[in-house]
Amino acid sequence: LADVITIPVVVHVVYNEQTQNISDAQIASQIEVLNKDFRRLNTDAGKTPAMFKGVAADTEIEFVLAKRTPDGETTTGITRTQTSVTDFAVDDKMKFSSSGGKDAWNTEKYLNIWVVHFAAFEDVLGYGQFPNSGSPLTDGVVVDYRYFGTTGTATAPFNKGRTTTHEVGHWLNLFHIWGDEDCGDDAVADTPTQETENVGCPSTFPLPSCDNVSDMYMNYMDYTDDGCMNLFTAGQKAVMRSALINLRPGLLT
Ligand code: ARG
Ligand code: ZN
Ligand code: CA
Repeated sequence: LADVITIPVVVHVVYNEQTQNISDAQIASQIEVLNKDFRRLNTDAGKTPAMFKGVAADTEIEFVLAKRTPDGETTTGITRTQTSVTDFAVDDKMKFSSSGGKDAWNTEKYLNIWVVHFAAFEDVLGYGQFPNSGSPLTDGVVVDYRYFGTTGTATAPFNKGRTTTHEVGHWLNLFHIWGDEDCGDDAVADTPTQETENVGCPSTFPLPSCDNVSDMYMNYMDYTDDGCMNLFTAGQKAVMRSALINLRPGLLT
């Protein structure tokens, strides 16, 4: 197995209004963010506090828009589907043609990303399915078209593509850094235990809670704004690579 794992991606744009039918360039900007963030080539890597620089990791995971459909035809790795659904919810309807969405491509072979409009769910931004934790037919991540990529419809403060970075983290078995409970456990040793999520862009560092020296609020698996996130850790890298090798082996071939 090569050190660098490359994951084929299909982006399903499921749009009602034409503005939601985001451009190929906007999709390319998101793939670029994934590659920068997961390889620690993000230009804001220097903003990681000195205290955490030692655990910041190049995950050696990369992403590429698929060049072949499941049937072996050439493709851009992008599908476009117009829908009568004006407002999707966190219920997977966007993942089936029969409910106004678009059927997944073989989820053992591709990372499926659906780009939709969550009108009544503005605080959702996106969601991801954990490995082995749902139907293979719904496996993948969903992101609102306003929080995808860095150009076009991308809207501050979530216009640096980090929603997709975060959701792909879930898809590769990462939990929220606060473990989804008070001083909870995210099953990663090198992320400090922290009380709860951080939002916005904290202006102080260190920012202690529980018994830590500081929350790692700039981790992609916290809830801070895109411009304030800048790392995965070595422990998170180990979880994600193990998820790929053991739980998603079809993506490696
Ligand atoms: N709220 C979403 C989730 O729990 C994503 C949050 C992403 N944060 C960001 N700064 N883009 O999966
Ligand atoms: Zn999350
Ligand atoms: Ca931890």
